[in-house]
Amino acid sequence: MDVDDVETIAVLGAGNMGHGIAEVAALAGFEVHMRDINEEFVQKGYDQIEWSLGKLAEKDQISEADADAALERVSAVVPVEDAVADADLIIEAVPEKMDIKKDVYAEVEAHAPDEAVFASNTSSLSITELSEVTEREARFCGMHFFNPPVRMQLVEVISGAHTDEETLSLVEDVAERMGKTPVRVRKDSPGFIVNRVLVPLMNEAAWLVHEGEATIEEVDSTTKYDLGLPMGSFELADQVGIDVGVHVLEYMHEVLGDAYEPCPLLTEKVENEDLGKKTGAGFYDYE
Ligand code: CAA
Repeated sequence: MDVDDVETIAVLGAGNMGHGIAEVAALAGFEVHMRDINEEFVQKGYDQIEWSLGKLAEKDQISEADADAALERVSAVVPVEDAVADADLIIEAVPEKMDIKKDVYAEVEAHAPDEAVFASNTSSLSITELSEVTEREARFCGMHFFNPPVRMQLVEVISGAHTDEETLSLVEDVAERMGKTPVRVRKDSPGFIVNRVLVPLMNEAAWLVHEGEATIEEVDSTTKYDLGLPMGSFELADQVGIDVGVHVLEYMHEVLGDAYEPCPLLTEKVENEDLGKKTGAGFYDYE
């Protein structure tokens, strides 16, 4: 299969990343089935796509007609079979937990066409281990977008131990068709490249504040104005979702060791369900 054979993309998960990936795919002209586990979640994702397309049109980054056409290409569905039965590429963006993702792949495998390619938007988990739940290890890779997908240019395309070259090239071509810049990650190691660097930065910032060495505002103004990052470390944690950062850290802690122990400042936010922008509060308030 090459990129011209890809007509329909299923995106599993309508959360922060799922709806953003669905939007990017629809803007690139693909038919998109976006799926989540209930009507409420999938409708919320659909509404966010509509909001985002409206913003892009309002700022003349796309035309009103292109925004309407992109939305037309998105169907929001709940049954897995409706999402994947005619999909050429299936991009999974469900919560960052190995067990949840494995259950999803086992279910999807039963309904997906034999030739469909599977790509996981996992932020850190082993592509090889996920692929082994399916019967298509060679046609399985990572396709890791960044938050917010509609604004971020990079896509990590990760090779698992069994992924074949055709699959990697296809997914890179799809990313390019979406207007993104794919970067191939040859080694399937926890956090891949970006999160191996970025998530410890967020964690270290949290430890600094937890230990009373600096305030959140001091750390953020330093990372933003001195290091020149577009957001401070805590603003970024709120943007990404504090729960996502903690899940990545937990996995890196388990596989790579104690240097990656999640800071209590982060885990307490998760326990209180203050997850960042998506819940209206994290390290900052958004309401
Ligand atoms: N769609 C459309 N518009 C959006 C949007 C979206 N999804 N998200 C935000 N906007 C809009 C806002 O509503 C706001 O609009 P108004 O101006 O009308 O209020 C505007 O965009 C915000 O734009 P700004 O001018 O204030 O900010 P900016 O354009 O300079 O940059 C940014 C915004 C691109 C998010 C920038 O801050 C940035 O690059 N931040 C870093 C993000 C980052 O590093 N992401 C990667 C995180 S790591 C990750 O995702 C991996 C993982 O696995 C954990």
